[in-house]
Amino acid sequence: MEMAGLPYIVGNWKMNGTRAMLNEARAIDRAAARFPKVQVAVAPPATLIYRTRDAAAIIGVGGQDCHAEESGAFTGDISAQMLKDAGADFTIVGHSERRTLHGESDADVKAKAEAALGAGLGVILCVGETESQRDAGEAETVVGAQLEGSCPRVDGAPEKLSVAYEPVWAIGTGRVPSVEDVAAMHKAIRAKLVALYGEGGADVRILYGGSVKADNAAELLAVPEVGGALVGGASLSAESFLAIVGAAASLDAD
Ligand code: 13P
Repeated sequence: MEMAGLPYIVGNWKMNGTRAMLNEARAIDRAAARFPKVQVAVAPPATLIYRTRDAAAIIGVGGQDCHAEESGAFTGDISAQMLKDAGADFTIVGHSERRTLHGESDADVKAKAEAALGAGLGVILCVGETESQRDAGEAETVVGAQLEGSCPRVDGAPEKLSVAYEPVWAIGTGRVPSVEDVAAMHKAIRAKLVALYGEGGADVRILYGGSVKADNAAELLAVPEVGGALVGGASLSAESFLAIVGAAASLDAD
């Protein structure tokens, strides 16, 4: 389902949720019907993808990572084809928690993104600088290099690609960059995407992620080139997540 023009609000549940969380997924799904101008999705832990797809009719359902290979001796890993088979529409790749805690390189992330597109999944590719990189004035250079190294170069790119700008220092901290800094970074990301993909790069959605909450969502989503949000903590309850979806919807109404 390509709805490139609509704001895209995605919940990344990370390693949270057992079957009891399906109630939240159902509540999110029911409410999403009231916001047809917002594209809503959740990325539950892999154990819940199939059940979430089964419980939800409207929202997108995605993985949080995939392996670059289709199958094989990779204990503990899950391929893009398996995510697709379980009912996923998309997968996140290159989240900073994967890059940092699992040592994923730009080349790894690129291979994963290409595998996901090859399996017919949408991709949300995450990039973002650390606090020391920002303090050193290197944020745009770092993010530009991440994009160059990790953006997929295969059929299906960039139509099914979204990029999520997630400053590492804003994830789970309650701190967010200024509107000016978000605008500058998203503008730089757009320029890089156009350099990489030509015209198609102009349509890639660029999401902001990092401490998005109900009370800052409207301001962040109104920034030029911010096409949606990747939400961690505030996506774990339907109530707080739907407040963000509602902020995206009222923005559209303005
Ligand atoms: P928080 O919204 O909890 O800061 O997490 C952001 C994130 O990492 C989403 O992928």
